[in-house]
Amino acid sequence: MNMVDSFEKIPVKIFESLQEGSYFIAQEIAKLIRDKESKGEKCVLGLATGSSPKTLYAELVRMHRNEGLSFKNVIAFNLDEYYPIENNALQSYKRFMKQHLFDKVDIDPKNCNIPNGEWKKEEIKKRCAEYEQILEEAGGIDMQILGIGNNGHIGFNEPGASIFSKTRLVPLDNSTRIANAQEFQNISKVPRLAITMGISTILKAKRIILMAWGQLKAPVIQKAVEGHVTEQIPASLLQQHNDCLFVLDTMAASELTRFKSPWLAGECEWTPQLTRKAIVNMALKLEKPILSLTNGDYNDNGLSDLLVEKGDAYEINLQVFYMMRDSITGWPGGKPNTANLATIERALPYPKRCLIFSPHPDDDIISMGGTFMRLHDQGHDVHVAYQTSGNIAVTDEFVTRFLDFAVGFEELAGIDSKKSSQILQNATRFLDDKKNSEVDTPEIRNIKGLIRRCEAKATCRYVGIKNENIHFLNLPFYETGTIEKKPMGEKDIQITLDNLKKVKPHQVYCAGDLADPHGTHKVCLDIVFESMKRLKAEGEDWVKDCWVWLYKGAWQEWDISEIEMAIPLSPDQVMKKRFGIFIHQSQKDMVPFQGNDSREFWQRAEDRNSATADLYAKLGLTRYAAMEAFVRWRF
Ligand code: F6R
Repeated sequence: MNMVDSFEKIPVKIFESLQEGSYFIAQEIAKLIRDKESKGEKCVLGLATGSSPKTLYAELVRMHRNEGLSFKNVIAFNLDEYYPIENNALQSYKRFMKQHLFDKVDIDPKNCNIPNGEWKKEEIKKRCAEYEQILEEAGGIDMQILGIGNNGHIGFNEPGASIFSKTRLVPLDNSTRIANAQEFQNISKVPRLAITMGISTILKAKRIILMAWGQLKAPVIQKAVEGHVTEQIPASLLQQHNDCLFVLDTMAASELTRFKSPWLAGECEWTPQLTRKAIVNMALKLEKPILSLTNGDYNDNGLSDLLVEKGDAYEINLQVFYMMRDSITGWPGGKPNTANLATIERALPYPKRCLIFSPHPDDDIISMGGTFMRLHDQGHDVHVAYQTSGNIAVTDEFVTRFLDFAVGFEELAGIDSKKSSQILQNATRFLDDKKNSEVDTPEIRNIKGLIRRCEAKATCRYVGIKNENIHFLNLPFYETGTIEKKPMGEKDIQITLDNLKKVKPHQVYCAGDLADPHGTHKVCLDIVFESMKRLKAEGEDWVKDCWVWLYKGAWQEWDISEIEMAIPLSPDQVMKKRFGIFIHQSQKDMVPFQGNDSREFWQRAEDRNSATADLYAKLGLTRYAAMEAFVRWRF
């Protein structure tokens, strides 16, 4: 048994990306289906919904179309369904399965079993018992596919669910309702109940594969794989199954000891980055400034190897302290007229052309408002490219307010333009009759996009950016009118390439959000990465001289030990940034699809920036009011 095994109690397979992980699982499923088929047997699959298995299902559909994979011998049992919910509601899992898999392959509809959100409440117990029985009669599940909730749920077995539980009606945990609010307009529309297979139903499967992608899942994966078996983390109960595999991408695996603290899991190569990570984590854990760490602290915290290799604690402390100190600069575009070559950005050329990519119309000011203002104030030629329209996050009430204004303006100005009045009338009528889950008409979407565009322009004016430096890319992948976006497409890349070629920046800033692999920010990032790689391959001269800096979007911050450039903000700059965020009035108070954090964007930004400053101070560096953090992408 090696050290990794002793920490990890469930076998884990890690892939570079969710795509590769999903292809692997698809292969496993296909092998099983074909193997069963060759023996003339049925193949019983337990299936999950949610964002995690979408790429897996897309790959199975591709294999069906291109490689003749048949689902004729498959009997499917889905894990769960909201309750109550109409079968064809946008958010029902029945609809999800039809859309992503069942309607696209040759499975017999009679073999598609899924708890029904329309069952009468008084019949649910009986129906659930029948569900278990049909499953048993089908011979039990050959392979169960699972996702995992941030609270460790599997199916909708929330923390506390018994290991003996069977298919039943359950209340949804508040954290699950918040996490899933993204699929609904807002939290109040998320059903309070669900029907789910039980833990014992899941554990009876002959083989189980659980998949998890993205950094948000990393903490719970660590607990499920390395922690104690506890009903408080339902996925940890899978440790008791004898053929269970976790398939992860590198992000979801990142909290496992072998990555988080590799020195504890065996031998490791002490690069400067790893040394910094180990020392910073130790200092924060012991609540000591870096320069106060002793040889004894190193020994007590599993870092004696580092002492053997690098010498005394004092020397190592200094080295890490300097690395942290040198990541702080008030000159994000480099400091001109300086002999100090240790600054983070190049002093020359000065001034620089800086291009900030903002996935939504407010990410620039929320995530890097202080840096944005500094770049402009320090004389650089700052451009902003708003990647998407952000139209989905404007409420209907907000649009109505603007429609009222437009009608009033027409009256006031005595305008009798039939065309514009018609647009206003159509828009008003549509909103008056709009049903809960109805998708906005292109007209309404345009108005919502316009509202956000005006807010972005006002922010740029506030910072002092020239009109011609504001670019609205309106990337098409975003324009579905629903929370579900299209994947990155060639058109998105072409638009971005054109923008980059026009500006020819020395510096690019973009949202390096890797946390949510399905989110808009990640797609926006992939589009910039792909565009930059192509420009480099094309040999564009200016690209060699272009540095790319990643900021984090509204949800998370870089790990303190990763930060390569930290821009301090004075209390006045914090206030100036706050007012810049306030300009985005459509995003204040409750916005649709807010996600699982009820704080307003300016509060999140301030909490985050002051937390970064606080961590630097705890490590023994100067205490600033706030700090914005960046990591460089080397391509
Ligand atoms: C869905 C299900 C849930 C999800 C989990 C993760 O059928 O049973 O347990 O697997 O909530 O959801 P995503 O994949 O959306 O992060």
